[in-house]
Amino acid sequence: MSTSAPSLLLSGEQLDRRLEELLQQKRFSPPAHFAATARGRGAAPDVLAESDQAAFWAEQARTLHWDTPFASVLDESNPPFYTWFADGTLNVSYNCLDRHVLAGHGDRVAFHWAGEEGEQRAITYAELLRDVQRFANALKRLGVGKGDIVGIYLPMIPEVVVAMLACARIGAPHNVVFGGFAPEAVKDRMKVSAAKVLVTADGGRRKGKTMPVKAAYDAAGELDSLEHIVVVRHVGIDVPMRPGRDVFYDEILAAADDVCPAHPMEAEHPLFILYSSGSTAKPKGIVHTTGGYLTGVSSTHKLVFDLDSERDVFWCTADVGWVTGHSYIVYGPLCNGATSVMFEGAPDYPHRGIWWELIERYGVTVFYTAPTAIRACMKWGAEEPNVHDLSTLRVLGSVGEPINPKAWLWYHVVVGRERCPIVDTWWQTETGQIMISPVPGHTETKPGSACQALPGVVADVVDEKTGESVVQGQGLLVLKRPWPAMLRTLYGEDERYVKTYWSRFGPETYVVGDAAIRDQDGSLWIVGRIDDVINVSGHRLSTAEVESVIMTHAKVAEAAVVAQSDASTGQAIVAFVILRGELEGTPELEAEIREHVARYIGKISRPKCIVWIDELPKTNSAKIMRRLLRDIMEGRPLGDVTTLSDPAAMADLARRVAAAQ
Ligand code: WT7
Repeated sequence: MSTSAPSLLLSGEQLDRRLEELLQQKRFSPPAHFAATARGRGAAPDVLAESDQAAFWAEQARTLHWDTPFASVLDESNPPFYTWFADGTLNVSYNCLDRHVLAGHGDRVAFHWAGEEGEQRAITYAELLRDVQRFANALKRLGVGKGDIVGIYLPMIPEVVVAMLACARIGAPHNVVFGGFAPEAVKDRMKVSAAKVLVTADGGRRKGKTMPVKAAYDAAGELDSLEHIVVVRHVGIDVPMRPGRDVFYDEILAAADDVCPAHPMEAEHPLFILYSSGSTAKPKGIVHTTGGYLTGVSSTHKLVFDLDSERDVFWCTADVGWVTGHSYIVYGPLCNGATSVMFEGAPDYPHRGIWWELIERYGVTVFYTAPTAIRACMKWGAEEPNVHDLSTLRVLGSVGEPINPKAWLWYHVVVGRERCPIVDTWWQTETGQIMISPVPGHTETKPGSACQALPGVVADVVDEKTGESVVQGQGLLVLKRPWPAMLRTLYGEDERYVKTYWSRFGPETYVVGDAAIRDQDGSLWIVGRIDDVINVSGHRLSTAEVESVIMTHAKVAEAAVVAQSDASTGQAIVAFVILRGELEGTPELEAEIREHVARYIGKISRPKCIVWIDELPKTNSAKIMRRLLRDIMEGRPLGDVTTLSDPAAMADLARRVAAAQ
């Protein structure tokens, strides 16, 4: 606890009154003290002529270290298979580590790591470089070469960064799977990507509990393609090790040589695959490459967070297993030589003030989190942040889902103390980098709006039928020019790549999958997904994937999953389930099915509630009418039910929903 916390902090009724007052304000100019020195102060994102987009990115790319400078910037000869800087070569780990150490910054802290039980470790750039070289050598000895896929399934510990950069150093694309996913889901992702090696841990910790990770993975069954499993000893539990296949991380690291030269990679060499949910049960293997990705994440990390590596302490609270962690914990910050915080735990363990305590301890200047977390903190009360000195904070970021104005204002008043610009950053796993966001010190912000496309990005809102621009109003969000960190394809599925993103309005318009509103000033407001993707706490989940897992439960005959608005998680999963034969829905069975989903996909996919039904509303052509299920869950009047095969069933359904709530 701090004694130097400012005294004029609001809570209770005073805070409520201030929030009410600001709710009327609607627009927030960059604070004068900030605007005068900000990186983005001269930025005029809206005036870049279209022809200048590629030139703009080329200029950004030249801030990296290239082993072979590129002559070709953007190749548009085979849309939508665009390439960036294709004749150049570079190494991502060289750019993230060696470059800074050679410039004399080896002693700079790359990560202040905070463990769940209060452990602290500071890892410098020089230490990170040493471990990355050793682990790269160890991977080579395990037979990993350029182009081989390495799976990574680790908690939020520094070794996850070492593993990712070691892969980058030798050109082995990594496939990181979120540590909260179930072993079955991990195995599935290893299988489809034909991973050769998996790097995992003995166990993980969550809110004081220890769970086995390696043993649980083993229990999910064998995988032929997997030649080795590397086990990081993190929690110190016993692990079953199969001789010849399984090795301990610390042992192979100790045995490895200290020097592993960073081999230049072609700019279009794949850096990683990251699986993300789409509207079908099959996850999409999103492929990102080397030169364009690093250009996109490093330049947006500097611009959007006004980053100065000499001064700032950056903290992105995401998990490394999501794209936010890839781009803004690992690659962007390290490429920029920044000092970051990495926290293993949850925001409410060991207590609900832990985030604010860490901000105070490390002097965090830039803080980047998700609306769902802000809403949880709001619920816990301003008293938690108010007892800490948060005066080092300069910029606050939000990502993952639309942020409601109330949460935006709470963030602004209670965390930012009305001094810090908020950047509401819109992007996706597919875009790799932030695309739409205010530029701090430059953009006038509006609570709930992501504002405008960044320089070099051309976003538009278009009519869903004609594809014409909507000057003011709602439509589909699209991206009209290629950008460097764009996905290059879906792993092994070029056709699906074209069909999913580039078919609706032709191969030059990327269809994002979100609806958006453009207001009278041209600011963009993201409305939400238009496909069967549910956004729970900023995590993208596919209805189809959850449905297919529920249907593998022995007692289930049929299931349909929809999203329902939820005050804390944004959206929640509701499952409509038809049981087999004469079985009755009971609370025990509900718990069993929810656990079944948690076990096969992960806890984040666990339905909030289950509604037992005898029949699903279907069209005459036997398609489930999810729109009706959504309307019922939201308490909306039911739209057109004339295409329904049995309209009378709806009244019964509404009764059951009321009973389940
Ligand atoms: C989807 C992408 C980008 C990292 C986290 C999620 C939604 C993301 C915002 C925002 C409104 C947002 C969109 C998008 N989304 N950021 N600032 N405002 N919606 O990555 O899992 O690939 O999900 O998240 O619906 O399409 P993702």
